[in-house]
Amino acid sequence: NWTTGNVIEEQVQAIRELVGDKRAICGLSGGVDSAVAAALVQKAIGSQLTCVYVDHGLMRKGETEQVEKDFVAATGVQLKVVDAEQRFLDALEGVSDPEEKRKIIGREFIRVFEQAQVEIVADEGPAVEFLVQGTLYPDVVESGGGTGTANIKSHHNVGGLPEDLEFRLIEPLRKLFKDEVRMVGQELGLPDEIVQRQPFPGPGLGIRIVGEVTKKRLDLLREADAIAREELTAAGLDRDIWQCPVVLLADVRSVGVQGDGRTYGHPIVLRPVSSEDAMTADWSRLPYDVLSRISTRITNEVRDVNRVVLDVTSKPPGTIEWE
Ligand code: XMP
Repeated sequence: NWTTGNVIEEQVQAIRELVGDKRAICGLSGGVDSAVAAALVQKAIGSQLTCVYVDHGLMRKGETEQVEKDFVAATGVQLKVVDAEQRFLDALEGVSDPEEKRKIIGREFIRVFEQAQVEIVADEGPAVEFLVQGTLYPDVVESGGGTGTANIKSHHNVGGLPEDLEFRLIEPLRKLFKDEVRMVGQELGLPDEIVQRQPFPGPGLGIRIVGEVTKKRLDLLREADAIAREELTAAGLDRDIWQCPVVLLADVRSVGVQGDGRTYGHPIVLRPVSSEDAMTADWSRLPYDVLSRISTRITNEVRDVNRVVLDVTSKPPGTIEWE
């Protein structure tokens, strides 16, 4: 019979046997799956695990700190944080096309992550033979099954990396569904902010700025997004909605009147959706008073934003994200 306790015990045992006295690495994204996978492996092999977190500067307010402080405090995991904000900003300079942005972010991410891997492999200590991934059961089914461990070759398009940077995979969550992963995470003592986190795209706020991504625009969007999340949480709506992207229309301006005069600022779009699996979605009928509080606070507190609009499009035809 299935209990989170059994799952944890079983996996811890299996991982210990598999890894022996070798080492493993795990990339943390800030999301639920990689956090729970890492916590589980940490429980099994302790300091033989090193986690890597690439800070691409496209996270929401407080998320990087959540990984750096709260996750580490809860698990005691050994963590290597790579501050790559400037590198990503440079790579994204002048780029407005959504697909181009995604490609750049994906490419830079792999480069930075692989560099970190190389550094860890070069550290003193036992050989690094394993890579931990937070693959879930639905991912396994989607990609056609397979066995518990597999060899993967990392990408070869990176200058100066050894050709043979090769790891065996540990995928401790590959029999679990999302809700089970959350239960395991909770049992492992991870904070609710991590375990109950709603989906957030890998390219982060980079695909929630319609237009070029700049530091100033990211900071502005981070503020607006933090307000929206705060109010949704305060209203107890986190479990009712699938997610609520907050989007900055950076190339659009409209006239407003704020304080003592005319403004010419940017609109912020709220995109609250309800969904089962993100394949289809409906726009969430949020209470007017909650929308009103979010709108008032954003226009009062975020400089250069003078308008808040609500996206009332289902998916299809609209996607959840704007880019
Ligand atoms: P769309 O916009 O396609 O989004 O309706 C569906 C779900 O996927 C998330 N999403 C992403 N997640 N990398 C990710 O890890 C991505 O590039 C990406 N794009 C969209 C989105 O937040 C929604 O939950």
